[in-house]
Amino acid sequence: TPLHPFLAALPKCEHHLHLEGTLEPELLFELSRKNNITLPASTDPAFGSVETLLARYKTFKNLDDFLGYYYIGMSVLLHASDFEALAYAYFSKAASQRVRHAEVFFDPQAHTSRGVDLAALVEGFKKAQARARADFGMSTELIMCLLRHLPPPSAMETFSQAREAGYFADGTLAAIGMDSSELPFPPPMWKDLYDAAGSGGIRRTVHAGEEGPASYMTQALDLLDAQRIDHGIRAFLDEDDKLIARLVRQKTLLTMCPLSNVKLNVIPSIADFPLKKLLDAGVTFSINSDDPAYFEGYILENYCALQEAFQLSVRDWESIAKGAVMGSWCSESRKEELL
Ligand code: ADE
Ligand code: ZN
Repeated sequence: TPLHPFLAALPKCEHHLHLEGTLEPELLFELSRKNNITLPASTDPAFGSVETLLARYKTFKNLDDFLGYYYIGMSVLLHASDFEALAYAYFSKAASQRVRHAEVFFDPQAHTSRGVDLAALVEGFKKAQARARADFGMSTELIMCLLRHLPPPSAMETFSQAREAGYFADGTLAAIGMDSSELPFPPPMWKDLYDAAGSGGIRRTVHAGEEGPASYMTQALDLLDAQRIDHGIRAFLDEDDKLIARLVRQKTLLTMCPLSNVKLNVIPSIADFPLKKLLDAGVTFSINSDDPAYFEGYILENYCALQEAFQLSVRDWESIAKGAVMGSWCSESRKEELL
């Protein structure tokens, strides 16, 4: 597209990126050999090779079909050095696409349930963050996501463990989030957890309105006091005008992921992404990559896919980029630098 060089050079913020979703098949197989983790190739031939796995990633039926591969893939991660390698590979790739500030998710329960210590995860990620700062001048924040498909007490226990380790107080973790399957696990299930975070002054975001209806987004705001919503596309697909007006009024950041939405069949094609509605309504949103190793595109590919479908102006993109800076969870002085 004609704007490609402009989009490539545009300074970016990423707010919706699962570190485990950046595990490229090459590193997945390398770590499975190194750590002696057997992949289920006997029951699923997709795990036979890098090529068969990439071919399998071409189409997912829905969120859960993808999540099956996502959780098996991340089972090869064991040591602090594995988590450091994963995160640093992502930060390097993001720097090459001019990401200046990244707020990234990880799923502690998916690792602690396999016997990996929370401290090992944090140690590896922090080393990668320090290298990203030194090598690329990139600011990064970690957001701990709790898993909806596990029982609420497991989420509460993981949150408490992180809080008792001082990770929120010392800035190691910037916020909590909530991810995994959406429809069977609505926001009311997580009220105690979000109340505990809110009363402790801890920032809160929630994946909502991806496969779940717009009403889950309203519940996330009302019951969980969410300060940000990850995805939130269903407000527009369901045409919930009252909710949209509220998002505008409250300046709630929506961290949107267009290529992910197409790959997981939330929308039939990129042309169905409600970009014009977002811009016309004046919603604060950012464009992000979600799980780039699985969805055939990092942040720049998401920007370019939208540009090809919608032919935005330079001014549209500058206003999207500015909204992303303003919605970031960084200091006011860092925002000045990013603007
Ligand atoms: N975990 C990783 N990617 C996710 C997504 N798009 N939705 C919910 N949970 C996820
Ligand atoms: Zn996500």
